[in-house]
Amino acid sequence: MNNSKSEIKNSELKPVAIVTGGGTGIGAACCLALAGEGFRVGIHYRKSEDQAKNVLSRIDDGFLLKADLADVDEVEKMVKSIKSAAGRVDVLVNNAGISINSDINTMKVDEFDAQRAMLRGTWYLTKRILRLFMLRGGSGRIINISSVVGHTGNGGQIPYTMEKAALDAFTRSLAKELWGRNILINSVAPGFIDTSMTEILPDDVRNKILENIPLGRMGQPEEVADVVTFLAGRGSYITGSVIHVNGGLYGG
Ligand SMILES: NC(=O)c1ccc[n+]([C@@H]2O[C@H](COP(=O)([O-])OP(=O)(O)OC[C@H]3O[C@@H](n4cnc5c(N)ncnc54)[C@H](OP(=O)(O)O)[C@@H]3O)[C@@H](O)[C@H]2O)c1
Repeated sequence: MNNSKSEIKNSELKPVAIVTGGGTGIGAACCLALAGEGFRVGIHYRKSEDQAKNVLSRIDDGFLLKADLADVDEVEKMVKSIKSAAGRVDVLVNNAGISINSDINTMKVDEFDAQRAMLRGTWYLTKRILRLFMLRGGSGRIINISSVVGHTGNGGQIPYTMEKAALDAFTRSLAKELWGRNILINSVAPGFIDTSMTEILPDDVRNKILENIPLGRMGQPEEVADVVTFLAGRGSYITGSVIHVNGGLYGG
């Protein structure tokens, strides 16, 4: 991790963006895009260390952060690492997520709990980043990566769709709590994006999804990152909103 005092000094004027799940898929695309916009990027990972290091090697200025977001103690350690590595957070992208898929009859209670733990982890990380950095600094941007299925529902994904709908509710409620604080919070709700999360889909399911997308294709992680970058650095009159990025699948 890049955390010596002199390194902090050299970088201290650069805005800092933290991206959870930054080693893979949409998160990796967000790290690269935010770095391209001049952010110093904290690349968080849990298991994908090699991928996170690869993302780090492709940007000018960044640092790695490791934590299982389902574990509050690990989130606390992560927040301490951010403090020593960067000393500030301007943008938080809550991207990390899992999707445990099976129907209501076969879904086990511990699988439901694993899904729910991600929501708690996102809530807790946001709470700590707000307290330690954004509220003190008097500004900030928080971007939650939710999902179209939190709006449309999806069979076989009940806990996942519940979690993503709750994440959008978190966005709307926190925007109201942050009234007058100059901290903007929004959700970006992707449709079906080409990442490891969707490559496991059987061909017939994939084809059925494609039939319902007016643009006729899955999205690319960079197309989600584009919107995240806009909300991170521009979008100054947008808060408490859900921005859909789904090729026309659902209009909100
Ligand atoms: N792909 C889609 O079509 C799609 C559509 C709508 C929404 N989304 C959302 O977009 C986000 C990114 O997904 P993706 O498609 O890019 O898939 P992905 O490559 O599987 O990314 C998921 C990321 O979440 C991290 N993660 C999972 N559980 C974690 C935990 N307990 N603690 C910390 N990190 C954890 C993973 O980190 P490690 O690998 O290091 O464990 C991984 O980097 C997710 O929130 C997903 O729900 C995706």
